[in-house]
Amino acid sequence: MVSAPTTVTITGAGGQIGYALLFRIAAGDMLGPDRPVRLRLLEIPQGMRAAEGAALELQDCAFPLLHGVELSDDPRVAFDGCRIGMLVGARPRGPGMERADLLAANAGIFGPQGAAIGAGADPGVRVVAVGNPANTNALIAAASAAPDVPADRFSALTRLDHNRAVGQLAAALGVGADAIAGVTIWGNHSATQFPDVAHATVHGEDGEWMPVASALAERLGGTAAAAAWLDDEFIPRVARRGAEIIEVRGSSSVASAANATIEHVRSEELGTGSTWTSAAVVSHGEYGVPEGLVSSFPVTSDGSGYRIVEGLELDERSRARVSASVAELVAERDAVRAAGLLQA
Ligand code: NAD
Ligand code: LMR
Repeated sequence: MVSAPTTVTITGAGGQIGYALLFRIAAGDMLGPDRPVRLRLLEIPQGMRAAEGAALELQDCAFPLLHGVELSDDPRVAFDGCRIGMLVGARPRGPGMERADLLAANAGIFGPQGAAIGAGADPGVRVVAVGNPANTNALIAAASAAPDVPADRFSALTRLDHNRAVGQLAAALGVGADAIAGVTIWGNHSATQFPDVAHATVHGEDGEWMPVASALAERLGGTAAAAAWLDDEFIPRVARRGAEIIEVRGSSSVASAANATIEHVRSEELGTGSTWTSAAVVSHGEYGVPEGLVSSFPVTSDGSGYRIVEGLELDERSRARVSASVAELVAERDAVRAAGLLQA
């Protein structure tokens, strides 16, 4: 049965990621073939012509699921009735920068957008922050939408980091990406994040799932070699992949970021199935992460929103890695609070 159109608001729709997102959403890649969409494109005046051009091309695709495209440079208009908000519009970093260097430039964008979501979005709204620094921007938007929208409707994208980790493991083990399960990204979408394989498994040719650590040990010649690969290559490679892409491409990731954003929303809306994924969501104190921070966790969804997977064992080294990333989130939160950019 075909449902009523879902209103999806995309900020920064005239930018690189916006252009990579719009056509896939309109084609049904995000919400499936039974959910038509109405797109709202929010831009600043300088980005409006690019967004207008994308809207013309959307019309030229004649997507059956696309029930309208509206453009605005006013967050109140763009978020009125919004059911899914994708907060992409923000400055990207250049070579030599860390994502936190964008705080001053970008944090001011997310407060007014959160306020507009609080004022006019659909009661069931869910919002993902993509613009960097994504975790803290989600925190700012959620605080500005309160009390009209519960904070747990806001999340930030670490699915790209999750996919990067899966991609690295699949390559190292010589398997397809769908043979890897149970990877977790903890903490911030930054170089301090902790890509954790302690509970990850790989589907072998014999049809059995085995721990990734054991499979790596078999392939790399022992437990010590596997541990060294994880510490010295895998973790830094995944955590610094964004910088590697910037160095090689000359600008930050686009297609992989858009793909991860679509997968993030799809998993939350349609469910994660039998495994978990990673997303930065509001902590209620799980795993010692201070309540209220937007930090990456293992999450599942049955379609009604992300829930943190609880009860996973973390050894001392893993806890220390999570704590280091969480400390960075606390510092970012304190910085935006001191600058008056975080409500309450
Ligand atoms: P881009 O510069 O190509 O596009 C950004 C767009 O946002 C521009 O069109 C700009 O006009 C618009 N914009 C700026 N301020 C706005 C506002 N207040 N309201 C609405 N639109 C606004 O950049 P991009 O490559 O599309 O990247 C966008 C953001 O996504 C950057 O911050 C980048 O660092 C981030 N990013 C995050 C991840 C992640 O995994 N979380 C991955 C890749 C990129
Ligand atoms: C990424 O991880 O590719 C993005 O966050 C862009 C960046 O600045 O690294």
